[in-house]
Amino acid sequence: METKIIDWTARRKDFPILDQQVHGRPLIYFDNAATSQKPRAVIDALVHYYEHDNANVHRGIHELSNRATAGFEAARTRSAKFINARSAEEIIFTRGTTEGINLVASSWGSKNLKAGDVILLTEMEHHSNLVPWQMLAQHTGARLVYVPVTGDEGLLDLSKLDSLLTKQVKLFAMVHISNSLGTVNPVADLCARARKLGITTLVDGAQSAGHMPVDVQAIGCDFFVFSGHKICGPTGIGVLWGRQELLDAMPPYQGGGEMILSVEYQKTEFKKAPHRFEAGTPDISGPIGLHAAMDYLDAIGRENIWKHDLELANYAYEKLAGLKNIRLFGPKPVVAQASRLFDSNLQLAGGTPALQRAGLVSFLLNDVHAHDVVTLADQAGVALRGGHHCTQPLMHRLGVESTARASFYFYNTKAEVDRFVEVVKEIQKFFGQ
Ligand SMILES: Cc1ncc(COP(=O)(O)O)c(C=O)c1O
Repeated sequence: METKIIDWTARRKDFPILDQQVHGRPLIYFDNAATSQKPRAVIDALVHYYEHDNANVHRGIHELSNRATAGFEAARTRSAKFINARSAEEIIFTRGTTEGINLVASSWGSKNLKAGDVILLTEMEHHSNLVPWQMLAQHTGARLVYVPVTGDEGLLDLSKLDSLLTKQVKLFAMVHISNSLGTVNPVADLCARARKLGITTLVDGAQSAGHMPVDVQAIGCDFFVFSGHKICGPTGIGVLWGRQELLDAMPPYQGGGEMILSVEYQKTEFKKAPHRFEAGTPDISGPIGLHAAMDYLDAIGRENIWKHDLELANYAYEKLAGLKNIRLFGPKPVVAQASRLFDSNLQLAGGTPALQRAGLVSFLLNDVHAHDVVTLADQAGVALRGGHHCTQPLMHRLGVESTARASFYFYNTKAEVDRFVEVVKEIQKFFGQ
């Protein structure tokens, strides 16, 4: 993986949406953890598909259907390469991270969990990696146990891990990068510890897949999930990766067309993975747009993207930390000392991985509701997010209702961070701080 000089200004110009004014001010889009913007290459791929190749997949024997099928399956192969899966058969297309986790909970979970078993999660999980397990626990009698978070600094308290990894734990599901705190969890290490005890692992890669190099084999997890819309692809498409042997042993998630070998009135024989898990007409343009997004990101290089986002986040963190009456969440910036940011296994190198912050900053101004911060920032053209970020239990754990969050991507600039910090200062002044 070579580090090359990237023309970030040119990359920014690939995103037509960024060139606009909001409330009379130039748009500063800092809501990338919620969804990313789409480059021209992805928009063009979608338009090309609908103008030239649109047809249903797998069923037709005509030219358009063959083309649509080829595009759809090529996206599967591309997705396998994107996360270094062993084969395209291990890639299941879903609507996104949420559906991927629900699929595993429903299919793997109902087959493998029983009363008394434990599902281990962390206190910083997104509702997508919490509610499906609660639902599963309710109908199997399994219990949920959480790895604690240390506090505002947002690290996992790993001193508790050995005592939490009991014989009853059947699944350990963890977020790779927290969308509320920006914490990067040492997932390879956590999965290795779980694996030694025969515990199945799932990594929620919603915030990592488009921001850093990801190698599921090096992470050593059993399932990995992410969403297309957060990595420059379209909404409505995501990827669930699972180890072949696990997928082959899992029952279908939904029944219908496309997932069968043969159907009789009383019984059905199902296809193997991945098609067993893709009932009905799938999102076809989604994978085609996702393919273009993956090509686009990897042409820049995800290590370069990581470096860029991290620089912005560290810069923003330090500037905000210099203000009075502000509370910052997530790990303090620690710049990797190593000459390479990622080691040969694509895990963060140089320093404790858990101390590495990803490209977002969560904060609260004293006595100002996060929604007020976001509303006033919007008036200044700055798109932030305020709320519980779908991590309500974490917010309660930290003793807050919500935070304001600025999340960065490679098309954002230092000048935008400067302007954002000015806007935060103006908001403080508005509230007499
Ligand atoms: C860490 C994390 N997990 C899961 C999700 C859910 O993703 P989606 O809504 O695309 O399914 C998100 C979305 O914000 C997220 O940040």
